[in-house]
Amino acid sequence: MRDIYNFSAGPAVLPEPVLQEAADEMMDYKGSGMSVMEISHRSSLFQSIIDETEYDLRALMNIPDDYEVLFLQGGTSLQFAMIPMNFMRNKKADYILTGYWAKKAYEEAKLYGKINVAASSEGDNFSYIPDCRDLDILPDSDYVYMCENNTIYGTKFKTCPDSKGKVLVNDVSSCFLSEPMNVSDYGMVFGGIQKNLGPAGLVIAIIRKDLITENVLPWTPTMLRYKTHADKRSLYNTPPTYNIYIVGKVIKWIQALGGLEKMKEINEKKAYVLYDYLDKSKLFEGLARGDSRSLMNVTFRAKSNEMNAEFIKAAGQNGIVSIGGHRAIGGMWASLYNAMPIEGVKYLVDFMGDFEEKKLSGY
Ligand SMILES: Cc1ncc(COP(=O)(O)O)c(C=O)c1O
Repeated sequence: MRDIYNFSAGPAVLPEPVLQEAADEMMDYKGSGMSVMEISHRSSLFQSIIDETEYDLRALMNIPDDYEVLFLQGGTSLQFAMIPMNFMRNKKADYILTGYWAKKAYEEAKLYGKINVAASSEGDNFSYIPDCRDLDILPDSDYVYMCENNTIYGTKFKTCPDSKGKVLVNDVSSCFLSEPMNVSDYGMVFGGIQKNLGPAGLVIAIIRKDLITENVLPWTPTMLRYKTHADKRSLYNTPPTYNIYIVGKVIKWIQALGGLEKMKEINEKKAYVLYDYLDKSKLFEGLARGDSRSLMNVTFRAKSNEMNAEFIKAAGQNGIVSIGGHRAIGGMWASLYNAMPIEGVKYLVDFMGDFEEKKLSGY
């Protein structure tokens, strides 16, 4: 037990048993006399780590055999460039704009071709997920891009958009392994692991094999071609070995809890505690529209900017860490990733209740 609750949007809280196990193995991994950080990525010891991590991820997410699992670097933001470089054969794509990160991906893709905005909630400060049942998609579009969980605005797609037969590319950074998903609905699912899966510095990309070809934009660097990494099974160069090791442990932790269905059930219970309080509160209000609320990131605010600042300060003094909202939206932002225990959410809600009571009584 630690004496703070960390609500950071990422890098973020990790399961304590995983941290403890990593600490226990820090000086001597499996009798090797070395830390995993010190082991060659070409050794059989590391090969077993990466193989097992991929095997367990495939089992947990039910990833079909015709999908490649790649361990990549450069953060999620590098994918914003790699996706158009690798997939934009007609130099056309459709983007669904649902927040800060989807928009960043869109701005980057515009460097490579013609990009159509298939749907957007920007006009309403990205407070909801637009209806994506009948998207305005370019007939010769190479792919349709979406960001499933919008970290900063606290919204999430509840159903898969109808991409009208086009390849769907999905950034799942902030909802990775938070609930089951049907991988085969997408051509590519990818995410930075620094929220739900491990330390910053690793991206996992799950890509349908037929999309990984040499037919990329002509000047695409070798390192930025998915084929380079697929051909070498993510060992073209030195991968972030320690991160892969931690992800492997997080996956086993989720398996031991009961898998992704169970994870979802736990996450729903946690999010309910906070949303239910927000719906009843006379001081705080949730910022995402009811039908679009994220289970992972909850955005809310009090009556004024001054009161938000006062709340964030008081929360920090009481062991509630990293609750300040992103500069794009302000207010407060509580991330309830897989490793946040329900006790942490209850502690936050109790603290909010006390704060509210004091404020409303003029204290
Ligand atoms: C949904 C989403 N996509 C992309 C990013 C960018 O990730 P990175 O900093 O790894 O480039 C973030 C970061 O918070 C995110 O939440």
